[in-house]
Amino acid sequence: MIVLHEVCKQFMQGDEEAHALKKVSLEIKKGECVVLKGSSGSGKSTLLSLIAGLMQPSSGTISVEGKEISKLPESFSAQLRREKIGFIFQKFHLIPYLSALENVIAPLIPENLPVRILEEKAKIAMEQCGIAHKAKMRVNRLSGGEQQRVAIARALVNNPSIILADEPTANLDETLSRELIASLEALKHSGVTLLIATHDPLFFELPFVDRIIEIKNGEMIL
Ligand SMILES: Nc1ncnc2c1ncn2[C@@H]1O[C@H](COP(=O)(O)OP(=O)(O)OP(=O)(O)O)[C@@H](O)[C@H]1O
Ligand SMILES: [Mg+2]
Repeated sequence: MIVLHEVCKQFMQGDEEAHALKKVSLEIKKGECVVLKGSSGSGKSTLLSLIAGLMQPSSGTISVEGKEISKLPESFSAQLRREKIGFIFQKFHLIPYLSALENVIAPLIPENLPVRILEEKAKIAMEQCGIAHKAKMRVNRLSGGEQQRVAIARALVNNPSIILADEPTANLDETLSRELIASLEALKHSGVTLLIATHDPLFFELPFVDRIIEIKNGEMIL
């Protein structure tokens, strides 16, 4: 369960304060699939980063599976992220000079597992995303769509109970987008909680999506 209570986030833009999120309150139940839509600059990426504990709210609280991630010191929020959350970033944030396989393994490194086990887990996630055949390639040689699939495999490699996806189809053509949606649907059926920020209309009429919420200028529209 993810619970946000009156979350505000301000950024300094030069001398001005930009209000990216204004008193956002939201509850997402375990196993729910929620689509977050809103135009560019409405605050979608900010909301996802806050839930992942990648940044702190200016005010308000956020709890993830009973832990208040908004108040945890960085090392603890990193651990919570590693255990529970898979994040598919809008800009993939892959390490360009590493291979696809090495990128997928990266989140598991702190767990000190034998290389054989790491590779096995990565292989399963990569097969799930249809990118296992590019395992040895350096990611900066891959196409945008292929990089996206590596990024998705990396988000799945720790078997997360929550997936936060930021514009997951932004770099995919329609066929690949539909494949990605099918993988998300399979995750939903296996009990994973999904929060997907997108303006891709493909997401607006999916039977497995429980709720579509809209955000406008940092405010939730009910
Ligand atoms: N690090 C930052 N510093 C300053 N302003 C920021 C920062 N991150 C986001 N903002 C501002 O916060 C607002 C919300 O940004 P955000 O990236 O959350 O929007 P978004 O809905 O994800 O947009 P898009 O659909 O284009 O990805 C924007 O006005 C943006 O300029
Ligand atoms: Mg964004």
